[in-house]
Amino acid sequence: MITEIFNPIISHKMAQLRDKKTSTKLFRMLVEEIAMLMLYEVGKNFESKEIEIETPLMPCRVKVLDEKKFVVVPILRAGLGMTEGVLKILPGAAVGHIGLYRDEKTHLPIEYYSKMPPNLDEKILLVTDPMLATGGSASEALQMLKDKGAKKIIFMCIVAAPQGIKKVSEDHPEIPIYTAAIDEGLNENCYILPGLGDAGDRIFGTL
Ligand code: PRP
Ligand code: URA
Repeated sequence: MITEIFNPIISHKMAQLRDKKTSTKLFRMLVEEIAMLMLYEVGKNFESKEIEIETPLMPCRVKVLDEKKFVVVPILRAGLGMTEGVLKILPGAAVGHIGLYRDEKTHLPIEYYSKMPPNLDEKILLVTDPMLATGGSASEALQMLKDKGAKKIIFMCIVAAPQGIKKVSEDHPEIPIYTAAIDEGLNENCYILPGLGDAGDRIFGTL
């Protein structure tokens, strides 16, 4: 269920994103743009419905998405950076939030916030977090969403480590994972190598 999206435009943006010289302003913009570009690939499997509209010349049957069915769920903080990109394409989507941070010593996720729209069982959830490292945060967030009734979930990240992919795939085999890059692994502090550093700090300028 893992898809690594190959696209020269995304690769170009990824090169800038990984560069330690990239400013906070550009970094934030790139995260948003990459999420937007990734959604083009993710959306290939979205179900559309047919409706009739009138062009200036005649009636015409067209295919549309039911935007209200979508909920973007950023894992705070860093997932917020991708949310704006997804909302540019699906402005009618709702936004739910999950607050998790990794304990600096144990690297285990700690929950501190959650707010979701109602009727999650009828929605398509696009969970965003730029970094899938050990997979602890993503796996915990996905379990929280399932416990709240979510049935259709897609996980979108920008950089994934093999360890994180393994954990999420084992814990949630039915959830598709989309990433713009699968990296080599993790360092002793569970940072992705080569990665891009701390995504949250680089998005919000808290370095
Ligand atoms: C980062 C990242 C993920 C998590 C990934 O968040 O945005 O949520 O780490 O690591 P894992 O796969 O090992 O769980 P962080 O805890 O640094 O919080 P932040 O988004 O507030 O910076
Ligand atoms: N979180 C980040 O922001 N970066 C990593 O490399 C791993 C976890």
